[in-house]
Amino acid sequence: MTSPRTNALDWLTHARSLFEPAMRAAVGRLDPFLGRVSSYHLGWCEPDGTPVTSPAGKALRPGLTLLVAEALGDHRPAVPGAVAVELVHNFSLVHDDIIDRDRERRHRPTVWSVWDDTTAILAGDAMLSLAHEVLADEGGPYADPASLALARATREVIRGQARDVEFERRDDVTLAECLAMEADKTGALLAVSASLGAILAGAPRHVVDGCHTFGAELGLAFQIVDDLLGIWGSPQVTGKPVFADLAAGKKTLLVVWSIENGGDAGADLAAWFATHGSRTVVEPQELERAADLIEKAGGREWATAAADSHVATALAALDGLGLDEAAHHTLIDLAHFVTERKL
Ligand code: IPE
Ligand code: IPE
Ligand code: MG
Ligand code: MG
Repeated sequence: MTSPRTNALDWLTHARSLFEPAMRAAVGRLDPFLGRVSSYHLGWCEPDGTPVTSPAGKALRPGLTLLVAEALGDHRPAVPGAVAVELVHNFSLVHDDIIDRDRERRHRPTVWSVWDDTTAILAGDAMLSLAHEVLADEGGPYADPASLALARATREVIRGQARDVEFERRDDVTLAECLAMEADKTGALLAVSASLGAILAGAPRHVVDGCHTFGAELGLAFQIVDDLLGIWGSPQVTGKPVFADLAAGKKTLLVVWSIENGGDAGADLAAWFATHGSRTVVEPQELERAADLIEKAGGREWATAAADSHVATALAALDGLGLDEAAHHTLIDLAHFVTERKL
């Protein structure tokens, strides 16, 4: 049982100690080279394999899986689920950095930039297949429904990534399309991270569904905040490049909202995207100008409020599920951490 009133950051640190040994054992089953590449990405070693402790990510998804199970009585049956969602997450990051051509993640050079695209594709594939293997093999009596839920979510993440790239080349993306894309690419994995905790705890359907809604809404808030941090975040804190989304012509929710609702600034922003099409070389001052137009259009303010609103919807979905009071409190704190985070 969690100690009463554990805050989100303490829980995430604790959660890492609960799932990481099983995750290291799983990664140890990979082909030695791909295991080393994956371990590098996971912050466990240098490219040559020398052990090191490097930023390994926030562990939000496995933290959620374990916390939901804890809130339903016991985190232990959810450990394979936690390992699986963190592996799917890391597969998606390694491939995402190839897709986005980003050279920095978690304060380190990305896998494709240390090795090459082929190596990054294979390491991502290795982590994805390992995730499904871990869950099918070690998910206990609920392995089948858990595996199905993870497979569905993985399909949705990939669909979202496809839309994200497609939108770079389009100038007619609607807010509804953009919402669906962000719900897929990020919401789906947070949704299944929460619902797997309930599935593996043997919870009834309405509890699984409530946890799924909680994760989906939290995931949308998370992505909206990620989009904000991609423009106004500090690379020293996030460990990721700033303005990369604008330079790639990404139609994030706050961009599409600004174009649709931002009056003159929105029209100027639409013209900016039309001129600086997807992946042209864009001067830093032009990127600053796009950021200013979004701010003038009200997009920054709108996105901040939208993230808060999705967190409120997320939290409402937990009401009446009969969760342990202390763990429920930590879930509330975790939801607020998502919108307040700077990394
Ligand atoms: C980054 O996720 C990818 C998105 C869905 C925006 P995180 O910010 O959770 O990544 P790590 O694991 O903490 O590095
Ligand atoms: C987030 O993609 C979703 C996935 C990785 C599946 P982004 O491209 O928005 O995330 P960051 O900002 O690179 O982490
Ligand atoms: Mg990216
Ligand atoms: Mg991306």
